Amino acid sequence: MLNLPLMQNNITRHDLDTLIDFLSEDDPKLTQSSNVQTFEEEWSDWLGVKYSVYVNSGASANLITMAVLKHLYGGGEVIVPPLTWVSDIASVIHNGFEPVFVDINPRNLCMDDQQVIAKLSDKTATVFITHVQGFNGLTDRLLEALEERGIPLIEDVCESHGAMFRGKKLGSFGLMSNFSFYYAHHMSTIEGGMVCTNDERNYETLRMLRSHGMAREASNGTVTKKYIAENPHLSPDFIFAYPGYNVRNTEIGAVIGRNQLKRLDEHNEKRKKNFLLFLDNLDPNQYRTDFDLDGSCNYAFNLVLKEADPDFRNKVEKAMNKAEVEFRRGSSGGGNQMRQPYLKGVVKDKEWEMYPEVEHIHFFGYYIGNYPDLKREKILRLCESLNSAGD
Ligand SMILES: Cc1ncc(COP(=O)(O)O)c(C=O)c1O
Repeated sequence: MLNLPLMQNNITRHDLDTLIDFLSEDDPKLTQSSNVQTFEEEWSDWLGVKYSVYVNSGASANLITMAVLKHLYGGGEVIVPPLTWVSDIASVIHNGFEPVFVDINPRNLCMDDQQVIAKLSDKTATVFITHVQGFNGLTDRLLEALEERGIPLIEDVCESHGAMFRGKKLGSFGLMSNFSFYYAHHMSTIEGGMVCTNDERNYETLRMLRSHGMAREASNGTVTKKYIAENPHLSPDFIFAYPGYNVRNTEIGAVIGRNQLKRLDEHNEKRKKNFLLFLDNLDPNQYRTDFDLDGSCNYAFNLVLKEADPDFRNKVEKAMNKAEVEFRRGSSGGGNQMRQPYLKGVVKDKEWEMYPEVEHIHFFGYYIGNYPDLKREKILRLCESLNSAGD
């Protein structure tokens, strides 16, 4: 029995003790306050951006990012992958954009850059890339094409904290970027997310949208004063500049997040080694092992069957169940989003079949947990059990 859950010990005894110390203070303030502010500053330093806005989930990060895009930059098409999390596409739809899909590159599970470039048009509002499960989806060619056309990039890095491109962390390239701190990811604040940007106007708008749309939530007094001057008939404390959401997080999450951030890099190094060991010991005749690992930083072991063979798939699932290895078929988001009921009417029937690489992951791709304290022995036994699944 391997007994391998998707995630383990991601909030440690030390995190909890740090939180207990905070809670033992005299009358600690628990709603968004100084720890949130400091966590945002520390996160911005770690990532290499100017501004970060801490929210209550990665899905909320997606939602307010798309809302900023709509309010400040206008509508149009958003190029998204069918292999992503539901909230990436839901946030596009909620904000009145039209999703345009492209297939993935099987070597990094992210959108194929040439297919993205082929779909750029005057209607493209943004390219909303998902760096899937620790892989980098950026290329020079893609960044150059976007720059040439003046089309902004939004990065979803919810599954790829610490992954790099050109020696810089993912999430520092786009106009805005999104992170998740849900328990299953590289680090956790129980629930939580972050929106990051170098643009001051985006930052102020994100802050207002994170609250109930309130003008006084802008960090820059000039922005608030402008709203007060323009709205003399309103109480200065209650000016709702945008139809906001209230997706704030709490001091509790920020205290845990600050403690977690101190060990994120060290943990990521261990995860990278684990993933290499996993791929080195997996049978390349049965499973894909030729992933593009350049800059990658993975919290999951990607298990993708080489052939579209349903019998073998059933045997692999049986072997994992028997060994008590938790897994997710279809990778993190459950595979091809275009097949999901929520997209009925948005996506034409059977249109999903035009994305064969995503379809392969949908039916024959999995992810298994990869965490820092996973023992070498266990990874080798996992590979043995997968390699012999078809026997
Ligand atoms: C790519 C991606 N985006 C967004 C999210 C949403 O994050 P959360 O679960 O924190 O809402 C996830 C969640 O797993 C994700 O994988």
